[in-house]
Amino acid sequence: MTNHAAATTSSPSPVTVVGLGPMGLVLAEALLSKGHPTTVWNRTPERASGLVARGASLAGSIADAVSASPVTIMCLNTYDTMYEVFGPAGDALRGRVLVNLNSGTPQEVRTAVTWASGLGVRYLDGAVMVPPPLVGRPDAVFLYSGDRAVLDEHRATLASLGDPRFLGTDPTLAVLYNTALLHMMYATLNGYLHATALVGSAGVSAVEFAGIALGWFMPAVLDPSSLAPRAADLDEGNYPGALGTLRMNVNALEHIARASEEQGVHSELPRLMREVAERAVSQGHGDDNYFSVHELFKRPSPAS
Ligand SMILES: NC(=O)c1ccc[n+]([C@@H]2O[C@H](COP(=O)([O-])OP(=O)(O)OC[C@H]3O[C@@H](n4cnc5c(N)ncnc54)[C@H](OP(=O)(O)O)[C@@H]3O)[C@@H](O)[C@H]2O)c1
Repeated sequence: MTNHAAATTSSPSPVTVVGLGPMGLVLAEALLSKGHPTTVWNRTPERASGLVARGASLAGSIADAVSASPVTIMCLNTYDTMYEVFGPAGDALRGRVLVNLNSGTPQEVRTAVTWASGLGVRYLDGAVMVPPPLVGRPDAVFLYSGDRAVLDEHRATLASLGDPRFLGTDPTLAVLYNTALLHMMYATLNGYLHATALVGSAGVSAVEFAGIALGWFMPAVLDPSSLAPRAADLDEGNYPGALGTLRMNVNALEHIARASEEQGVHSELPRLMREVAERAVSQGHGDDNYFSVHELFKRPSPAS
């Protein structure tokens, strides 16, 4: 293994990519374009034709695929598919390195770590944090956690995909960050889309609204540089309400929900946000600022 690490400093190391969906395809393309001898495998082999035309080798079996390279990067739809795909590889997996870029959950990672160790596989869990067109750029963030030695040994190969960031030896951290960041993305996008529908109810076009929503409101009011210093308050549970209380914010959320109903657009999202804020008020945070809903979010929801 040390020899492989040494080899990467002189010439791009061979690599195998398993899974050629929209993401796996661009991973393999990025590796090929950076000169890595690249072997690929996919359930539907036809998807590899463009890669093969550019010099990739198409493995005839999953065992051949993992045997072709010191490291195999997988990008499949689910963790369950991983077991289905790698099951037939049998003994070919022993001593091999698998890097898992499937999206999943922390419990799925724990099960995968046990599975890999039972097979004698060296396993690194990761997550792709960019859409396919950005893969291969030096600033494309890939998160990794678990076996640091695997990342260090194969850093040159993984750096051909983007910027590898190690989060810690707890193997679940990469998928946990991934789900947390995706949640933030969906919540933000849903806010923007719902807001566009709300003003759209008065005939305002999305293009017109974007000028003020994205051109001014997001950078001015939701400015990351003003939010960042407040992260320490979240760690400390410090929510001074001098500039605005949670009770005031419940009113604002009620107005959003009622305006949505009056205008005949969907109102479930603002209703849910109002309910959450109201619950935090009932737990004693009425005079704190809006960030105090974080106290509620740190605990399981009442339904679970
Ligand atoms: N696309 C994105 O924007 C993006 C961004 C970040 C992360 N990701 C993550 O990257 C992973 C792959 O995503 P993707 O966009 O490439 O598409 P995807 O639809 O999630 O996965 C497609 C891949 O899974 C394979 N597959 C599905 N079911 C299978 C089965 N039963 N047996 C064998 N192979 C099976 C497909 O093989 P076939 O070709 O034979 O169907 C294909 O290789 C996912 O975990 C996704 O969450 C995607």
